[in-house]
Amino acid sequence: MNKWDYGGAYQRHPLAENEIVIFDDGSMVKVHNIFYPLPEFMLKADLIFVDPPWNLGNLNTFYTKADRADYQDSYEKFYKRLFECIAQINPKSCYVEIGKEYLADFIIEMRRLYKYVTFYNSMYYHNKDRLCYVVRGSNKAKKPKLDGMDEEDIIAWICANEDYECIGDLCMGRGLVGINAYKNGKRFVGTELNHKRLAVLVEELYKMGLGYKKQSSRAIGLPHRCEVHATPVLPY
Ligand SMILES: C[S@@+](CC[C@H](N)C(=O)[O-])C[C@H]1O[C@@H](n2cnc3c(N)ncnc32)[C@H](O)[C@@H]1O
Repeated sequence: MNKWDYGGAYQRHPLAENEIVIFDDGSMVKVHNIFYPLPEFMLKADLIFVDPPWNLGNLNTFYTKADRADYQDSYEKFYKRLFECIAQINPKSCYVEIGKEYLADFIIEMRRLYKYVTFYNSMYYHNKDRLCYVVRGSNKAKKPKLDGMDEEDIIAWICANEDYECIGDLCMGRGLVGINAYKNGKRFVGTELNHKRLAVLVEELYKMGLGYKKQSSRAIGLPHRCEVHATPVLPY
């Protein structure tokens, strides 16, 4: 099996790009490229946590993993589009994970959207040498104390303690946000470029007892492959 098949969950839970996965608790996810118009269900999110690719090289490794050849030539275009999506969703609070290189740019973007912006020193893979940052924007002054925590623990903390009905993630990957929301009895919505990665979340939740059905995005009036928004990308 290919290294980027992620254990083959996508064969047991195939996800097509014109389908929405609707879980039995009302949570929804979709294989989707954020450069396309946002699926309407993403507007349900009143809180966001997103861990996007951190720079151009990293972005394009995810295109390779997704078997795509439409490599991107600008990280700025990507993160501008990410923040455009966040602005459209307009959650009460928003957390975005990022590496050192673009930390200042992300703080600037967050300040355009929120009155109170802070950031936390964090790490990934529970390894103190793997540094990252989590930028938080909110319209409320009160901020949680998350400095120095691993990003996985930050996600768990947010899903358990933030004030929200439905958490959104625009780059869901294998779905830490979805798993932690479900563990806390909360709904989630998400999009992810790579169907193989998203299928890992669907399978994990299925094993935890959360059933789902798939519905054509056309059937419920959502854009399938409509015209390209801000930046042209090749079709899938
Ligand atoms: C660092 S990973 C997120 C990991 C995630 N927090 C998890 O729990 O697995 C970034 C994700 O962004 C996705 N991604 C990259 N470009 C994207 C795009 N244009 N639209 C949507 N998702 C994208 C990648 O496929 C990857 O899964």
